[in-house]
Amino acid sequence: MLQTRVDSGLDGVVVADTVMSEVDGEAGRLVVRGHALQELVASRGFEGVAALLWEGYAEGGGDASAVASGLAAARVQAFAAVPKLLAATRGLNPVEALRVGIALLPDHETTPHHYLVCGAMPVFLAALLNAEKGLAPIAPDPTLTTAQDLLRMIRGQRAGVVFEKALDTYLATIADHGFNASTFTARVVASTHAGLISSVLAALCALKGPLHGGAPGPVLDMLDEIGDAARAEAWFDDAFAKGATLMGFGHRIYKVRDPRADVLKATVATLPATAGRLAYATAVEKGAIAALRKHKPGRRLDINVEYYTALLLEALEVPRSAFTALFAVGRTAGWCAHIFEQEKGGRIIRPQSNYVGPRPQ
Ligand code: ACO
Repeated sequence: MLQTRVDSGLDGVVVADTVMSEVDGEAGRLVVRGHALQELVASRGFEGVAALLWEGYAEGGGDASAVASGLAAARVQAFAAVPKLLAATRGLNPVEALRVGIALLPDHETTPHHYLVCGAMPVFLAALLNAEKGLAPIAPDPTLTTAQDLLRMIRGQRAGVVFEKALDTYLATIADHGFNASTFTARVVASTHAGLISSVLAALCALKGPLHGGAPGPVLDMLDEIGDAARAEAWFDDAFAKGATLMGFGHRIYKVRDPRADVLKATVATLPATAGRLAYATAVEKGAIAALRKHKPGRRLDINVEYYTALLLEALEVPRSAFTALFAVGRTAGWCAHIFEQEKGGRIIRPQSNYVGPRPQ
């Protein structure tokens, strides 16, 4: 009989070498291709981070302006597919509809697939949000960056430098993060040689869950329900009594604060009229950490990226229903990088399971 030690969450299991990013959960540090997160977001925009991730692996890699041009052209190309997207996605929420949109992208397209899929995400998302409001889709402007253009397509006009910079910081911050569930999913699919579009589609499906990229909408629901920081302690006691999971807290790798949370919190503070909301969220965060210490002693749970993602996207007036889809716009750059790396050097990913059912006599 086979003897297998089962590790249902693959905690600490190392399945690949990667040059893409390192998540140090004890130090609370993220390094992307040799650059600390804080330095990365201060010195490069989203396109710069994508270029860095793709360097040595894909067309445009290493050259931020080539990536910006490639993404701009791909956004224009994707806009032609919007009528088909809208016809196929009536009644679906943005992330479900985006899933359909990515599935519609053709494998035989000659445009490099990383551009195709990264250009399609913001164009499809903006068109879906406009359709929800009964508005016609707005064509992309290839002279703009992804963040500038996405906000413009959602709002119908340029948003202003401070808002555009904030979205750009968000997209750069979340572009890559080790072997998280969606990236691992992308690599599993890539390991079968299914191709980049199928791999990204699978990653998007993994991102959708509330334990991964689906957390920030529920963070705002929680802030709404608590309503007043003075009520936080009682609210958390009640939530733990009911066995609740606090959205925006806890992480498989980080045992201390997720460094992305502080980058995003500082970004919220750059936006106008956020001081009151930020003070309230900071007070609730303190209450949540205290409640986690009290109700989950010894578990080393802290804030993760999703808590201040929620505040930031709310301040950018992005509807809650679109938060997960917007996460995908940024993370697709990282998914593509990992898919390239997997395709270049990896083997088919095929772990073992431990059969516990009956056996023939
Ligand atoms: N609230 C309350 N308790 C928690 C939380 C939380 N947010 N996170 C973990 N715990 C508890 C668990 O109940 C468990 O307690 P137990 O030992 O009494 O059973 C203990 O801490 C260990 O938790 P696990 O579930 O084993 O941790 P795991 O590494 O499997 O899960 C995860 C990590 C999924 C992120 C979890 O912390 C969680 O559900 N957090 C809330 C959802 C969230 O914010 N997700 C976004 C993560 S960031 C990202 O993916 C982009």
